[in-house]
Amino acid sequence: MKIVYIDLAKGFRNLAIAVLTLVTTSCQATIPPFVVRHLGNDHGIVQLKTNNKLLLLPIEESAPEARVNVMQNQKNVSTLHVRLAVNNIDYYVPFDLSNLDIPALAINVQNVPDSALCWRSFELADEFDTQNRESHRPVYHFTPPYGWMNDPNGMVYKDGTYHLFYQYNPYGSMWGNMHWGHATSQDLVSWQHQPVAISPDDLGAIFSGSCVVDKNNTAGFGKDAIVALYTSAGERQTQSLAYSIDNGKSFSKYEGNPVLTSEAPDFRDPKVIWYEPTETWIMILAVGQEMQFFSSANLKDWTYESSFGEGHGAHGGVWECPDLIEVHIEGSNNKEWVLLCNINPGGPFGGSATQYFIGDFNGKVFNNHSPELTKWMDYGKDHYATVTWSNAPDNRHIAIAWMSNWQYANQVPTKQFRSANSIPRDLSLVNKEGNLILKSTPSPELEILRGEASNKRSFTVNKDYNIDKLLDNNKGLYEIVMTIKNKDAEFIGFRLFNSQGEEVDFCYNLIEGNFSMNRANSGDVSFSKEFPITTIAPIGKTDEITLRIFADKSSLELFMNDGEYVMTNLVFPSTPYNRANFYSKGGNYEVTSFDVYSL
Ligand code: FRU
Repeated sequence: MKIVYIDLAKGFRNLAIAVLTLVTTSCQATIPPFVVRHLGNDHGIVQLKTNNKLLLLPIEESAPEARVNVMQNQKNVSTLHVRLAVNNIDYYVPFDLSNLDIPALAINVQNVPDSALCWRSFELADEFDTQNRESHRPVYHFTPPYGWMNDPNGMVYKDGTYHLFYQYNPYGSMWGNMHWGHATSQDLVSWQHQPVAISPDDLGAIFSGSCVVDKNNTAGFGKDAIVALYTSAGERQTQSLAYSIDNGKSFSKYEGNPVLTSEAPDFRDPKVIWYEPTETWIMILAVGQEMQFFSSANLKDWTYESSFGEGHGAHGGVWECPDLIEVHIEGSNNKEWVLLCNINPGGPFGGSATQYFIGDFNGKVFNNHSPELTKWMDYGKDHYATVTWSNAPDNRHIAIAWMSNWQYANQVPTKQFRSANSIPRDLSLVNKEGNLILKSTPSPELEILRGEASNKRSFTVNKDYNIDKLLDNNKGLYEIVMTIKNKDAEFIGFRLFNSQGEEVDFCYNLIEGNFSMNRANSGDVSFSKEFPITTIAPIGKTDEITLRIFADKSSLELFMNDGEYVMTNLVFPSTPYNRANFYSKGGNYEVTSFDVYSL
């Protein structure tokens, strides 16, 4: 069946009219056509006649961003920035039509030449297939259903459910159009995708922020309302508020937004906590290269209290995504306050990283106990925007990070989606040679992923020891747990590698007391010159070390001594690393246990 829809709209008589003719086969549902009117100057209007729920937009990642104004009765209802295909189509993204009045709809597209491929490539559908089509897509790490993700946002636990919101672009797999995506989980391991929670408005895009459960109804939205505080990123960055009275299913924006403004250009990422001693809400905001503290009785009216940062820690870039938690010191009854401070650029290996400060907090001022030290939470290159769940059960502090780095996040070799989160980690403080350090242990829930340990052994490494197969049917999802006891080696090393000669080289240098991971030959490293590097953790000298390595399709997360030191790095091998080669230099060492679990 062939359908041609011609719209010779009177008001557009002197405009070029392109009529798209769509052909359907007789056994398919009728696909109505699109009418495209070119207005000159790379500007066109698309009108539709359809009952379909979705308009599929063809994306070419190297194309410039088109400005897409969605108009109803000639009034703009939303603006998207979309890399509409000019020469090639990399993939499609869906645009939801279901709440729009289609006869009154005009999609007003600017910055796309008349000759661009997109004008004849829009499609209509009722469903969008989010099945994985990519070999590098993680399996047990959270990824968005499609499109781009960066920071985890608004993580909150309520009534048995962990909510994860995240910086989300539903209109392409590169940064832009920031929404809060949403997913829920009962166990931190399997995640259910939920509809987008908060969408951009006239105050701006929806940047990072946090959620709290308002147990005392301080804001007046209702007892136990989930209140989200986020940055409205418009001309300026201001702080806004949205609330949910249906357990996070839907959010309403507060009519008094924004609730906090500033002259500072970088003024964002509100983290809100309840400070019990004064029964006050505290907001920590990233402002340039410092953190500012504000207080409030009702989440709406905020009073400036203090600033922290100058002269403390790393300052190679702006500070972003703060968190403030009171954490238990292992082996004691004491607690200290930990201020998480993400920084970009200025991380130890270039680009993004998470530093932290340990000190005290009195509801107004944070006081750093070791101003002379810079402390990093993770010694990999792909651990950023780390924050913790609010209201987590059993006084737990559960953190996750965005597993990427702004140096190359937009270029990593995936398409249908871009970026994953780290596995969840439980935080605690430990005393290490007189200094407190923040330990990140894989959350115990992750053990439900484990199959049988299929490679259990112990062995001595005298120069070389090979394991020809880590797993029988290795899909790239596994956890290695091992303990190494040194005898007299100066270098304890092992490589994980695949049949293509791609490898990751881990080495404990006992002369210098550091542990490194080299991903220079780990697979596809071609997309950025910042990617093929070695990351190093200053773990000190010790005769015994335990390691847990979590492998997924495109990441390795290494936990040393149960998380005293952590290294999170992306890797893009063409097939899973299924072999290991242990080597020693200067002496021997023993691997007293080596277990591989498929996950
Ligand atoms: C951190 C960040 C935040 C900001 C968000 C925007 O990665 O730059 O500071 O709110 O991403 O997506």
